[in-house]
Amino acid sequence: MRNSNHHITIRQHHSLREHNTFGLDVVARQFIDYHSVEGLVEVLSALRGRGEPMLHIGGGSNLLFTGDFEGSVLHSNIKFVDYVSRDSREIVVRVGAGVVWDDFCAEMARNNYYGSENLSHIPGEVGASAIQNIGAYGVEINSIIQQVETIEVSTGKPRVFGVAECEYAYRDSIFKNRLQGQYIVTAVVYRLSTVPVVHLDYGPLQQLRPCEPVPTAQEIRNAVIAIRQSKLPEPAELGSAGSFFKNPVVQVAVFRQLAADCDDVPHYVINEDTVKIPAAWLIDQCGWKGKSHGGAAVYDKQPLILVNRDHATPADIMELAMLIKQSVQEKFNITLEPEVNYI
Ligand code: EPU
Repeated sequence: MRNSNHHITIRQHHSLREHNTFGLDVVARQFIDYHSVEGLVEVLSALRGRGEPMLHIGGGSNLLFTGDFEGSVLHSNIKFVDYVSRDSREIVVRVGAGVVWDDFCAEMARNNYYGSENLSHIPGEVGASAIQNIGAYGVEINSIIQQVETIEVSTGKPRVFGVAECEYAYRDSIFKNRLQGQYIVTAVVYRLSTVPVVHLDYGPLQQLRPCEPVPTAQEIRNAVIAIRQSKLPEPAELGSAGSFFKNPVVQVAVFRQLAADCDDVPHYVINEDTVKIPAAWLIDQCGWKGKSHGGAAVYDKQPLILVNRDHATPADIMELAMLIKQSVQEKFNITLEPEVNYI
């Protein structure tokens, strides 16, 4: 593998500070940016059989590096937005995995295509968003995905997954789960609506609801951005990885017990057996808002978010997460699971 050609750029001992939104100052032994599927296939073939750790990252917005990475970090620079087809109701658009997710959302909203506007302003890139099944304000990305194009790590062969094959669930997919590390996403094919299809049930978005004409995708995008800016830290100003934990899904009996002990427990009914409880509420009830541990802290406007307040180390963040998890376990007997991936 040559150090640099038009398909690949390789850097040794590369700081990952710009590649993780926590802003942790860790180092990768080797950092490989590839610019095409051919480049990726070449990289995989060169790394195959070496037995070294390999990690593929996107925008690094959902990662917690626990230390330096003694292996190769791969990153996609495959960037294109191709309009595949359009009829009176839908457009199909194929997008390279290295495109910044919100750049794509902005383009869709500008064209008044509906489907991605509730997911505006989520940090990260297209490839990772399809693995993570990003979601916000009543929409998950799997609702607009048609296909996910990948390369198999062990063979370098292409494989296209139809949306049903991706086994999407809350912050979960086959790529995070059963096939973890086995496929690299190179492009995602989305289907968006050219006629209004809106999701305005989330609290502050309801104010857009009664109006006629129906709000444009751009208006919904603007409202979503305003909500996010009021609740969530901007990664460029304060390092974080968004929600640190998933919202726990508990059995109805567990919820009933909790509701008997506490007033007004916020919750969303998932089905007749299970209920989702906001982790932010559980953490808030344990008094964590604004608290710090070393350089890490619990964000004061949204306690589900851990932030790098002052030169946090990976250990500061891991210890804070562990203390929070312990206190929620002790107070509520509910186990929080991280939403971020520990590396
Ligand atoms: N809450 C508190 N105290 C607080 C803040 C919130 O008790 O200080 C409680 C409230 O009851 C509130 C509830 O938590 O109603 C839910 O809060 P919020 O609406 O902010 O949403 P969330 O459940 O905490 C999830 C996603 C977010 C997504 C929002 C909006 C997860 C793990 N997180 O957060 O996603 O933006 O809903 O849809 O599902 C992310 O994944 O990184 C992320 C930010």
